Amino acid sequence: MATTSHSAPSQVAPWRADFLNHLSRMDSPEFVFSSLHAVPEGQKSPTPYLPRARYCIMRGFWAELPENKHNNAPMNPRVYESEMPAFTTDVRMNKPIELFGSSSGHATDVSQAQGCGGGGPCEAVWWVKDAQVQWRMKGEAFVVGNDVEGDGEEMESSGVRTLKSEVGSRMRVVDAEKEAEWSWKRELTGHFGNNSPGLRGMFCFPHIVVLYWGYSADQNLQALSRTRHLDSPWISLTMTRISLLVRKWRTWRILLRGQTSAWSLSSLRRWSLWT
Ligand SMILES: Cc1cc2nc3c(=O)[nH]c(=O)nc-3n(C[C@H](O)[C@H](O)[C@H](O)COP(=O)(O)O)c2cc1C
Repeated sequence: MATTSHSAPSQVAPWRADFLNHLSRMDSPEFVFSSLHAVPEGQKSPTPYLPRARYCIMRGFWAELPENKHNNAPMNPRVYESEMPAFTTDVRMNKPIELFGSSSGHATDVSQAQGCGGGGPCEAVWWVKDAQVQWRMKGEAFVVGNDVEGDGEEMESSGVRTLKSEVGSRMRVVDAEKEAEWSWKRELTGHFGNNSPGLRGMFCFPHIVVLYWGYSADQNLQALSRTRHLDSPWISLTMTRISLLVRKWRTWRILLRGQTSAWSLSSLRRWSLWT
């Protein structure tokens, strides 16, 4: 693996098995992802940042892309494990600039949020109805972009270095012999290929952004037929971003006891699982 600092946790997080078990019980591993949006200049606000929340789909823990027979992207060998939830997004959405803008780099313009980096604070929440459990993770989210591996001659940007240091230090080696075979860019491509054809279309053809979320099924079908194969992933990757949630604070598992009184405070029990 290129330029990654390694002080990776040697221990599996104590909540990992429980969390994965709960995810497997969800129809779709949807979660609410919140980040901080800088208040635009001239807009009145008592605070410089305002919260934003939206649904996203968890694509597994970083470096553990699940097997998917429809994904024909080249895949990394299983060399690492982590407890960093990953999801795909698009550089044209607000999440990337929010994660760059609220980080120590204080990016103020989208042009500064095009590649790897970020690290702004975030919170993610999963409601596992079947288990009556809510999982909340608080931490920082980093963005993996197309510049994650240069052509070998260019200097790595500070965003790439930050990403590899912060994220790399939280990746546990499970197969040291294959470590040299693992590539950040291949992992990014693998995530891209793991998206549905419709989503890949959205990343390939900018106009499909609107189409995917709002247009008719018929227009969606046209997009699907154009994007069934991963024939030009590199062009598409210019739009694709993977966000990783790196927990630095606590992970809470909140159990709602009993359905009828589920919302009363006394019915809530919570455990701190990670510090
Ligand atoms: C069920 C569901 C799953 C979604 N999954 C994702 C996702 O994985 N990544 C993503 O960027 N947007 C996803 N979206 C769209 C986001 O909720 C959001 O509307 C969009 O990303 C724009 O958000 P932003 O501009 O605040 O970043 C999903 C929406 C729904 C309803």
